[in-house]
Order: sequence, then C-alpha cells, then structure tokens
Amino acid sequence: MNELDSEKIAGNLQHSGLEPAGNAGSADVVILNTCSVREKAVQKVYARLGTLKKMKSAKQDLIIGVVGCMAQLEGKQVFTKAPFVNLVAGPQKGHAIPGLIERAQTNGGRAIDLRMDDDPEPLENAYVLRESPRRAGVTISEGCNCRCSFCVVPFTRGKQRDRESANIVHEVEELVAQGFLEIMLLGQTVNAYHDPSSDRLTFAGLLRRLASIKGLRRIRFTSPHPNYFNDDVIDAIDSCPQICNQIHLPVQSGSTKVLRAMRRGYSREGYLATVARIRRARRPIALSTDIIVGFPGESDADFRDTLRLIDEVQYDCVFSFKYSPRPNTTALKLCDDLTDEEKGDRLKILQENQKLIQFNRNAAYLGRIVEVLVDGKAKNKFLLAGRMTDNRIVNFDGAEDLMGQLAMIEITGFGANSLSGTWIQ
Ligand code: 5AD
Repeated sequence: MNELDSEKIAGNLQHSGLEPAGNAGSADVVILNTCSVREKAVQKVYARLGTLKKMKSAKQDLIIGVVGCMAQLEGKQVFTKAPFVNLVAGPQKGHAIPGLIERAQTNGGRAIDLRMDDDPEPLENAYVLRESPRRAGVTISEGCNCRCSFCVVPFTRGKQRDRESANIVHEVEELVAQGFLEIMLLGQTVNAYHDPSSDRLTFAGLLRRLASIKGLRRIRFTSPHPNYFNDDVIDAIDSCPQICNQIHLPVQSGSTKVLRAMRRGYSREGYLATVARIRRARRPIALSTDIIVGFPGESDADFRDTLRLIDEVQYDCVFSFKYSPRPNTTALKLCDDLTDEEKGDRLKILQENQKLIQFNRNAAYLGRIVEVLVDGKAKNKFLLAGRMTDNRIVNFDGAEDLMGQLAMIEITGFGANSLSGTWIQ
C-alpha cells in the first residue's frame, strides 16, 4: 500500500512537470513517504532526514517533503525537529503534493496539509507512475474501521472509504490494456469492501467481476481480516483460476487471551476454523501471516500458544515484529511489561521455528514445473527472479527478454525463503 502511495506521489509530480531524478543526489525535490506502524519506522525517517540536511546545505533550493502516516502523526513537530523540511502531508495526499510544493515555494518555505477528510478524490487518483510494467497495485478502499488496540492506522488513515466498483473495474481494464498481467487489490481491511454504488458488489463479487476481464492473468489482494473471511471468497477462488493461490491472513497471536487484549475479534479456534475452510479449497492455497510478539501481558504460555499455532498452520511465510507502543492506541494504557531483550528472544525463537517450517515446505517443490511472472533481477548468483502464483520467489537463469513474461521453470533447488530452477519455456 505504501509502495502504491509512493507511485501516486511520483505520478502527480510527473503530471505537474517534474521528471524522476536518476539518483537522490541530483534531485531538486525529495519526498519521503513514511510509515508509523512501529516506532522504528519513525526513527528511520529522522535518520534519513539527517542525511538530507547535508544535501540541503549544499543545495539551498532543494525541496524536502515528509508525507504519509508518520507525517500525519508527527504533524508540525517535523518542522521543529527538522527545520529544513519544506512540506508535511498525511497519507492519501499524492494529488495534493504538487500544490503543496508551490505553496511552500511562495509561502516562506513551508506548507502543511494534515486534513483527514472524506474527500473521495484521493481514492480516484488519475496519475500513478508505476515501477513495474506488469504488476500493479489498485486501491479498493482506504482507512480502517477496526480498532485493534496496538494499531495506529485508524489515526493516520481514518475511517474506511470504498471506491465504486465501476471505477475499480475501469482502472483494471485500462491496466490490462496497457499490458499489466497481475493486479494486487489493496485495502487496510481489503475483504471488508462494500461497493458504495448501486451495484452493491461484495468483496467476493468484485473478485468475480475482475476475474472476468480478458487478459488479466493474476489477481491478488492484501490484507484480509480473518473476521470477514467468508465462504463466498473461497468460492470465488475456487471458480476463478486468475485469483492467486495465496492468502495473507494476519493472526497477530496464537493466544486467545492476547487476541482479546488486542481486540482482534476472533479466538485462536475461530482463526484456525477459517484456516481449515481455506485448506478445503479445491486447490492448495499458500498462507502467510503477521505476528506481534511481546504484546503487553503475553506470558511464556501465550507465546508457546503462538509457536504451536505456526506449527499447526504451517505458514509459507511469516512477518513477525516486536510489539511497539504507538500513540493514541488503547494498548498504550496496558503495561508494556517485557524488556526489549525478552521480546527480541521471542522473536528469534519464532523466526527460527518458522524458518524450519519454510525449509521443509519449500523442499516439496523440488522437481516440480511451475509458472512464474518474471519481474526482476535475482539478488543472488542467478540472473532473473519471478513469483509463482503462491507468491514464492523463484530465481533462475534466462534471457533478459523474459522480464515481464510468464515463464515455466523446473525447480532444482530451494532455501527457506526462495526456490531456484531452470527455465524450460
Ligand atoms: N507493534 C508491532 N507490530 C505492529 N503491527 C501493527 N502495529 C504494531 C505495533 N504497535 C504489525 C501487525 C500488522 C503489521 C502491518 O504490522 O502485525 O499486521
């Protein structure tokens, strides 16, 4: 979602007459798109601003902007902590950035926009400078109506607003006409989508409608909330082969007691029942998740419940984080009783256990022939990398012109985080 927000900022800047700089050092405008979901993300921005300060002293008319969730939270404080910053704006403000730059230039060097209105304009963003020519993010909703006790997002992105289904369909049709093969539907709670138009499509209905677009090869979505994961979505996956064999289903904890304190609205058993329904789909679906360790009050037994859960579910990928207290959230009132070291120890154990699970799951791919969408250069000795429908990364050797194509690969090697293979056709 943040990547798409950055692409929207870049698209609007390009529309206003700017061009992408070859590198940060030669830029006239530098916009940092920020995250605030954990404290570390906020610290990173100030560290980065330290470097930009040096750049600005060598180039006085450099425009520096801080936008996104962290900017929404910090507000004017950004100017206090980093006085050389020219503009501050919250998320969903891509369309407003060119105007803010102009305002900063005529207004003593500063402009700020922290309004969190229900303006539908940001959802209907016409200008997106996309990184990939084949894979595109598409916003279907913004904001979140959940009130998870650890999460700052409702305070930075506001209440959920949904795009009209006809606008989403139109955008995807245009992307397909431009040659995009894969779209990723984006929403904070993507499966809570409700079409505000008279078509009244549900999330499953939207998936089916998009799957009927000729030429669209892959549909992904992120992130669904377990509470809205109904059988209609699984039926849509069953009947539409374009919907990828992959679901990211954030669990956050394997302990019902901790889940209650997190206000997630489901129990361990309820989540596992949803997983069991997904496992009954007609094709195997890869599952990934998010987990927070060291939430206030998480005992050793609670943590062991989480370890048992990852063992039971056998996720294909897990994103795990140490709990980080965030402003305005209700969990702030709970006693953050574990030390950073204790949280770190739990994180390490969780990640080691998961690594073994992934290693074993990836081993099962040896000898299989799989389809990948080739989308970049490999980060290791191989030349190219692509993703399977189940989101696994496959590294292989092949000609440059395979980039952006669907290719068949025979899997000949594996690690915990990726597969490798030989190009067949
Ligand atoms: N501390 C740690 N992790 C968090 N996340 C969200 N808020 C926090 C927090 N306060 C994690 C959740 C979420 C992912 C995007 O970030 O696991 O799913």
